[in-house]
Amino acid sequence: MTFKEQILQGIPSEMPEKRIYPEGINRAPKRKDILSKEEKQLAIRNALRYFPKEWHKELAVEFAQELEDYGRIYMYRFKPTYDFYARPISEYPAKSQQAAAIMLMMQNNLNPAVAQHPEELITYGGNGAVFQNWAQYLLTIQYLATMTNEQTLNMYSGHPMGLFPSSKNAPRVVVTNGMMVPNYSKPDDWEKFNALGVTQYGQMTAGSFMYIGPQGIVHGTTITVMNAFRKILPKKETPKGKIFLTSGLGGMSGAQPKAGNIAGCVTICAEVNSKAATKRYEQGWVDVLIDNMSDLVVRAKQAQENKEVISIAYIGNVVNVWERFDEEDIFIHVGSDQTSLHIPWTGGYYPVDISYDESNRLIREEPELFKEKVQETLRRHAAAINKHTVKGTYFFDYGNAFLLEASRSGADVMAENQIDFKYKSYVQDILGPMCFDYGFGPFRWVCTSGKPEDLDQTDQIAMEVLQEIMENSPEEIQLQMQDNITWIKDAKKNKMVVGSQARILYADAEGRVKIAKAFNDAVAKGAIGPVVLGRDHHDVSGTDSPYRETSNIYDGSKFTADMAIQNVIGDSFRGATWVSIHNGGGVGWGEVINGGFGMLLDGTLEAEERLKSMLFYDVNNGIARRSWARNEEALFAVKREMERTPELKVTLPNLVEDSIVKGLF
Ligand SMILES: NC(=O)c1ccc[n+]([C@@H]2O[C@H](COP(=O)([O-])OP(=O)(O)OC[C@H]3O[C@@H](n4cnc5c(N)ncnc54)[C@H](O)[C@@H]3O)[C@@H](O)[C@H]2O)c1
Repeated sequence: MTFKEQILQGIPSEMPEKRIYPEGINRAPKRKDILSKEEKQLAIRNALRYFPKEWHKELAVEFAQELEDYGRIYMYRFKPTYDFYARPISEYPAKSQQAAAIMLMMQNNLNPAVAQHPEELITYGGNGAVFQNWAQYLLTIQYLATMTNEQTLNMYSGHPMGLFPSSKNAPRVVVTNGMMVPNYSKPDDWEKFNALGVTQYGQMTAGSFMYIGPQGIVHGTTITVMNAFRKILPKKETPKGKIFLTSGLGGMSGAQPKAGNIAGCVTICAEVNSKAATKRYEQGWVDVLIDNMSDLVVRAKQAQENKEVISIAYIGNVVNVWERFDEEDIFIHVGSDQTSLHIPWTGGYYPVDISYDESNRLIREEPELFKEKVQETLRRHAAAINKHTVKGTYFFDYGNAFLLEASRSGADVMAENQIDFKYKSYVQDILGPMCFDYGFGPFRWVCTSGKPEDLDQTDQIAMEVLQEIMENSPEEIQLQMQDNITWIKDAKKNKMVVGSQARILYADAEGRVKIAKAFNDAVAKGAIGPVVLGRDHHDVSGTDSPYRETSNIYDGSKFTADMAIQNVIGDSFRGATWVSIHNGGGVGWGEVINGGFGMLLDGTLEAEERLKSMLFYDVNNGIARRSWARNEEALFAVKREMERTPELKVTLPNLVEDSIVKGLF
């Protein structure tokens, strides 16, 4: 059967052979055994409803075994045998080009070169699912192949509920992932309802089909590191020879050394797992690998003295580095941490003075003792950081719950008021005020022809557009504009494309709209093939997350999720090709609501209208909310936008004198 025939058949008419997987595939970890006997029966009943009755007896036994072995029912047998990758858009069977674009993006998220656990339909983050099982994939892709531009596919956490009549102006797909009645959003609720097969954790760009590999995280991390140095260095001084000390060489954290090199500093990144460190070294993401402290001390001093730009991976615990550098009086300019403290008890954070293997044994066999050791380490970790910050180190939390978990462990990380933390997060201090409040965020695009030449052309177009905009940009955003021009100039050189021909570029509303319009014109002329636009959910407007994206909202509304919901609804009727809204992503289930969109630029006038209307709203919705929260930079941005666009009328806050409210109660 050809690829197209396989897509069109949906669930096959004959039961496929049982699959035996070769060794060496990166499989998802076994999930918690959380269901009662009755609930397990319900999970099997739920899984079997995708298949004809005659198969139930055989599949029931197999699915029960999967549930036993993996804690989930993935329906491995139904994984298609064709290769998964972003084929050029013309290779998909489709009546709607928009639907074909969505198929392309889904296939990219499941490409083994891109996805973390492709057999379990997980793109990244350990649990960021595109679908819960292979039956959902088969049905969805069949719906997409047969739908028209007068229909909309509704997807409930990977499950295609069906095609509903709509209109050509409506989105082709509406995705919801993990949306729960609020009281059912605790971590174990995910375990339970995901095991039952009725919800999934979509992370951000996994369940929304917008993942583009490591490029996205490298760009975001570069912007963060670069601006962290700008905050503390005199204007003309460069980060050369100045140390950025951090930890983690895993999925996202592995971007730090590469970003540090682009930002031009000395990055020292501790990683307890020698395999993870060696992998990053072999990939060329870090320049030097060191496995003992004395060598690290010598090399760090040398890098400082010679004003080098270099990245060093230290195989060991980061706490030892903070402590030893204090003893040696090695000055650290910028410090952070990117261990996985959003999952501290299951291997996200390793205790000091215990070997990696022994720690893993404790996790399995003595979880209570492991927890004690983690908390002890967090207290030591914070104490060592405090010694450096007294000497002038700038430390920021990297959205990994470091300060939250440290505070829960009784570490000395609270501010004098005992409410705030001593240190700010990267969004509070850097990304929020310097980027999101002005509307700059991780805009991205994918060339659906699959041709690298198309990507080169789009890079060139985007650069020219930005250069033109920069000529009249106000002082306040000149730096951001320059950073983005530098990034796009070097984008190809950084060799970050894995999977689809994609590019990320931080841009504000004006930049996004003008770049998109220029792409659409190029598609119309036939210079390039159709382009898919999108963004990371970690952006100006898409995400309500009180300890990350909206951590620099100080009017009390950071615990609300109105912005993300308004955004996804607003985008959907302004022309998005697909929209998605998720519970969980980055910081955990129940901790964040985030949404995004995808939009196909096919060179038509309709596409031009859609991009202008939707991209404008997609950014300015968030700026409006940020300005209502009294954020100075957002107030500047929204007033500027209202001058440019008379139809935009945003409610502005009246600022209150401190003396009026102080002493009232
Ligand atoms: N990069 C970003 O922009 C960004 C943004 C927001 C949040 N985060 C957060 O960063 C965290 C890391 O993400 P990831 O995908 O890299 O996770 P990951 O689990 O793949 O990597 C974390 C690494 O830290 C190592 N580690 C754990 N404890 C250590 C210790 N004490 N000393 C040295 N190394 C240690 C682990 O071995 C692991 O390799 C997550 O909590 C994520 O949510 C990152």
